[in-house]
Amino acid sequence: MSGMETMNGSSTGAVLPLDPAEVRRNLEPLARASMLPPAAFAGQEVFDWELENLFSSGWICFGHVSRVGRPGMYLKREIGDDSVVVVCGEDGVPRAFLNVCRHRGSTIVQDSEGSVKKRLQCPYHAWSYGLDGSLVATPHMDQVDDFDRSCFGLIPVRSAVVGGLLLVDLGGQAPDAREHVGELVDHLDHYRNSELVGGGRVEYSVEANWKGIAENYNECLHCPGIHPELNRLSNYMSGEEFYGAGEWCGGSMTLTAGDAATMGSGGGHASSRPPITGLTEAEERSVLYFALFPNALVSLHPDYVMLHTLYPRGPGETEVICEWFFEQRSVEAEDFDPTDAIEFWDMTNRQDWHVCELAQQGVRIKGYTAGRYSGEESTVHAFDNMIARRYLEALEPGSRPEPIREGAAA
Ligand code: FES
Ligand SMILES: [Fe+2]
Repeated sequence: MSGMETMNGSSTGAVLPLDPAEVRRNLEPLARASMLPPAAFAGQEVFDWELENLFSSGWICFGHVSRVGRPGMYLKREIGDDSVVVVCGEDGVPRAFLNVCRHRGSTIVQDSEGSVKKRLQCPYHAWSYGLDGSLVATPHMDQVDDFDRSCFGLIPVRSAVVGGLLLVDLGGQAPDAREHVGELVDHLDHYRNSELVGGGRVEYSVEANWKGIAENYNECLHCPGIHPELNRLSNYMSGEEFYGAGEWCGGSMTLTAGDAATMGSGGGHASSRPPITGLTEAEERSVLYFALFPNALVSLHPDYVMLHTLYPRGPGETEVICEWFFEQRSVEAEDFDPTDAIEFWDMTNRQDWHVCELAQQGVRIKGYTAGRYSGEESTVHAFDNMIARRYLEALEPGSRPEPIREGAAA
């Protein structure tokens, strides 16, 4: 345990100005529960606490493993004040490091993704690092006393790959990554997520709290009004909720439009992509939507996987990266064209961001108090419970609030 931690594992720097009684109301069964307190969405202090305790400590999703699938490929992300780079080594293993030069502290990698041949070179005075993080070139350091290059490699960050998702744990103390992903890995593996390759990427800056975006993803109550196109392909009342071990929630929806083969523009039949190998007939008519705590939204479609990763930038600002992944055989096909999937979800994303931004404006209004969940928001409740449990563990050290899994045993 580091000196910055309390007995319950929370860092001590940021305070959490929430009323435990109000947070506990979120952990009631759905029919009695209240939503998270408004300050959880609008307050700077709650945001600072979340960055420190949920994003800079514990597993977060850093993207899809295929984006660092070959030696030299890298991804760079900012997490709070930290900048982290994951680079694929000569041995094909992705490794995470703080994106800071050990000389005068310049950030090294500037692009959010890319590829280098053999080295990451600092743009300031050209110190160079191997793909394993070791310091390999240091101009004009020959005469310096007592300088041991091997002590000045890039600072490693704990990382893992589970079910094709790249995860990092800046704090280095979280339980095993497979425990975090839990039984969600079965769904990811069934859809061959770790073998899929990228086919599209769109970045968004959304003026909404990261949890508001995750909540929106976890329900389709808004679909008839906000997404008429989506609701025509997949009725908002279809599907069921899923349960299982791990820090995730989610459920399925069904392709209710008879002629639709997938979620895509052109009525869902604009593409000739085959379904992902090994899916059942029922799965070829379904879409599975999962939220992996805290920042990954992964959707398993009959013929592709879509991944949203959320990076909080302020209480009312979130950077969202949305990516699409396909089977290699689909990408290699002469007529491969992912436009239908990208166009459809880009439209749907923007419809979602609009209402997330409206809700963000509203939760800032001082008279607003926590709302109640409808019967169609059980997965939102499940997501919020993961947050509320962490709040309570910090507010009432030693408490271990149990997750609510209504209907799980049914
Ligand atoms: S700060 Fe990187 S080489 Fe000087
Ligand atoms: Fe939506």
